[in-house]
Amino acid sequence: MLDRPNPAPEAPCLDPFVLAKALSGVHFIGGRFAPAKSGRNFAVVNPATGAEVAQAAEGDAADVEAAVADAAKAQKEWAKVPARKRGALVHKAAALIRDHVEELGRLIALETGKALRTESRVEANTVADVLEFFGGLGGELKGETVPFAPDVLSVTVREPLGVVGAIIPWNVPMLLMALKVAPALVAGNAVVVKSAEEAPLAVLRICELMNRVLPPGVFNMVSGFGPECGAPLVAHPLVRKVTFTGSVETGKIVYRTAAEKLIPVTLELGGKSPMIVFADCDFEKTLAGALTSMRFTRQGQSCTAASRIYVERPIFQKFVDAMAEKVDQMVMGDPLDEKTDIGTIISDGQFEKVKAFIEEGKATAGATGRACSAMPKDPALKKGLFIQPVIFTGLTRESRLVREEIFGPVTCIFPFDDPEAVLAEANDSEYGLAASLWTNNLKVGLNLAHKLEAGLVQINQNLVVQANLSYGGVKSSGLGKEASLEAMLEHFTHKKTIMVNMG
Ligand code: NAI
Ligand code: MG
Repeated sequence: MLDRPNPAPEAPCLDPFVLAKALSGVHFIGGRFAPAKSGRNFAVVNPATGAEVAQAAEGDAADVEAAVADAAKAQKEWAKVPARKRGALVHKAAALIRDHVEELGRLIALETGKALRTESRVEANTVADVLEFFGGLGGELKGETVPFAPDVLSVTVREPLGVVGAIIPWNVPMLLMALKVAPALVAGNAVVVKSAEEAPLAVLRICELMNRVLPPGVFNMVSGFGPECGAPLVAHPLVRKVTFTGSVETGKIVYRTAAEKLIPVTLELGGKSPMIVFADCDFEKTLAGALTSMRFTRQGQSCTAASRIYVERPIFQKFVDAMAEKVDQMVMGDPLDEKTDIGTIISDGQFEKVKAFIEEGKATAGATGRACSAMPKDPALKKGLFIQPVIFTGLTRESRLVREEIFGPVTCIFPFDDPEAVLAEANDSEYGLAASLWTNNLKVGLNLAHKLEAGLVQINQNLVVQANLSYGGVKSSGLGKEASLEAMLEHFTHKKTIMVNMG
């Protein structure tokens, strides 16, 4: 039975305000809720109103120590559980998540400002999908026999790494966590997650739900700030692998600490993903694709957002106008309202950052920034962190808006004349996460797909990360893959060789 000081409700709770309060002030360590050892908490804010909705436990090295110690102890037993049985438990946890999709969708909408219908509920369902996928992969943790010599049996076995430290961001916290926790657990590791300070609640609820079926200590969670709580997790000697999603800057800090310990890392960092539109594309399909590619429903807070769009000159102006019209039809408003397409930016800091990019773009000579959609009218939302999506044209290639990750609802559109020239522009970036191409000429499309420097290239679609497909960037976008069988085998196990001389 779980210890619930608050207490967290047993059944799905459809009132996110009530659930947020019930999840206040606790980590989840060793199978139970636990307050911060320092007794400190920090505020969790609803970005649609500016109101505090909960307090989160403010973790530091002492809480990390407790979580890692429990994880290390539990991992030894967990590794002995047959792999398919571990998978079956993760699969069982998926069923619990399915039962709580509506609850989790509402809670994540409350703490992140992402609209329930277009984003938050979708994310909750995808978490269940990811757990189901990895839950079925236990039997794939296979080794090989190696033809070394006739009288020597040489085999490899996959072994877990031990305790995995997982550091997650706030933009898609439930899904990005599931992509780390599910394969790590099925492979026989224990996990300590450090949640993002802006969105600690829904992931905490998922941790509690999964702990209803997992043995205590294999999945733990601490909340807190990066340097105080994330850094000690990465540095902890018993943490034998770190998996991180977030900014390039923090990713490099994590990598440096991991290098000192000589432990493996997976880094999913930023992006500046190009979308390339040829004149022969299916125009309406491409237009709809541009809206999803730019993740306007997530306020552009996506590492794969199509924040650079290159359109072949004959359809350039038509495309820009049609796209602006489409975005105008999207509804900005209360994230919990079913009518809302576009919610809010996550935090004051991100709001200021995105606004500064927009101001800089508007002040650039020759550039036009068209603000689309309309600010919500509801007075209850007047302190909400809403930003109208902006479509820029006429920016130079050197502009900071074109080179840096904005992580907001801002895209820059350029005309192009020639496939080779647009390829060079698309690849002229520090990043290499994703790209999409829109054309009915598959010869041109495939040729470019091979030459684009990106971990994921899609032609005539731009889906978000999908279970079963390896996902991860090149260049400053990161190291390693997530979401696939390969991700589980290569990033959450090591291969041991065992040889038996039978001569
Ligand atoms: P961040 O990279 O600082 O935060 C991500 C996670 O890392 C959070 O859990 C944070 O607490 C933790 N963290 C921060 N400092 C740490 C440290 N020294 N050691 C260990 N963990 C630490 O990202 P932030 O500040 O939230 O956003 C800044 C920018 O990063 C965004 O504007 C966006 O461009 C990019 N970003 C990219 C994401 C992606 O999906 N690739 C997700 C979130 C942000
Ligand atoms: Mg930061």
